Amino acid sequence: MQTTFQPRIFSGIQPSGGLTLGNYLGALRRFAGFQGSGAETIYCVVDLHAITVWQDPEKLRHNTREVAAAFMAAGVDPAISVLFNQSQVSQHAELAWLFNTVARVGWMYRMTQFKDKAGKNSENSSLGLLAYPSLMAADILAYHATAVPVGDDQKQHLELTRDIAAKFNHDYGQEFFPITEPLIEGSATRVMSLRDGSKKMSKSDPSDASRINLTDDADTIAQKIRKARTDADPLPGTFDGLADRPEARNLVNIYAALSGETPDQILPRFEGQGFGAFKPALAELAVSVLAPITTRMSDFMGDPAEIDRILGKGADRATEIAQPIVEKTKEIMGMIRSR
Ligand code: AMP
Ligand code: TRP
Repeated sequence: MQTTFQPRIFSGIQPSGGLTLGNYLGALRRFAGFQGSGAETIYCVVDLHAITVWQDPEKLRHNTREVAAAFMAAGVDPAISVLFNQSQVSQHAELAWLFNTVARVGWMYRMTQFKDKAGKNSENSSLGLLAYPSLMAADILAYHATAVPVGDDQKQHLELTRDIAAKFNHDYGQEFFPITEPLIEGSATRVMSLRDGSKKMSKSDPSDASRINLTDDADTIAQKIRKARTDADPLPGTFDGLADRPEARNLVNIYAALSGETPDQILPRFEGQGFGAFKPALAELAVSVLAPITTRMSDFMGDPAEIDRILGKGADRATEIAQPIVEKTKEIMGMIRSR
């Protein structure tokens, strides 16, 4: 018999540094839209994930509040959605341990994010960095979440989440965990670096010029776009014409995601023109979309105690959902409930 699960959206963002335009377009800006869709929405600042690489404790506290502020600035309403920080709901870490016994070591070594982050000296990376996807599966499955909106770089982790759910269900002979659907949609599922069209825009890139931060002011945004790496050719009339031009394709994709059009709707307006015309238009658009969000974020950051209060209420609501699911998981696995 096919078990039906009630629709539930879960997503998380790491407080491991400032947020970028990539986080915004690939993930954040989509979250508010799921509110009122009939699905319950649960959004998490994943601080336990962040510490898989070294975080300065004071900066981690600041970044955790800042990510919470970004969720709200992007329209996540804590009266509708459950908004909290991961470490306050102990079920995440507990279920991650249970999943460490279900997942296989080989699955973890195959993760491209692990290979990228661990680099050449992988023996010296934290054990948490290797086990990270098991915690991510726990984040999602502790709520029986049915769908997860993320950027393209998280696809492999979501496949692993499905593998863990399927193996658990198979090993214990019941359809207890849902096989979660990844929601990776739109023209900005993978926003690339402004300096190198083959690299993802990332908060951990050493070059600040490679990314637009959600805290950048209008002048900085315009300057970074003006200096973005491109080529000398004029723009074509269709997106197909950009097949071999990754940097140009990236800027057009960013424009499309910001304006809500498709690249093929935009390009005829710029056909035959160079980046001297396109870049100022993109900068103006980026500033008009990001400035109100930046302002709202800094308004929220003006009252950190209020952010903490909101996160605390969210953690209470999250615990109410996750606790019975994790209790049931332990029961299925054969743990005695002694009190
Ligand atoms: P992270 O900052 O790694 O916790 O990522 C938070 C969310 O932003 C995830 O859903 C990522 O897939 C998404 N994301 C991060 N960087 C990018 C990017 N360059 N393009 C699109 N989405 C991204
Ligand atoms: N691993 C994700 C990232 O780096 C963050 C994350 C942790 C997440 N747990 C999650 C995303 C659960 C979606 C669902 O971007």
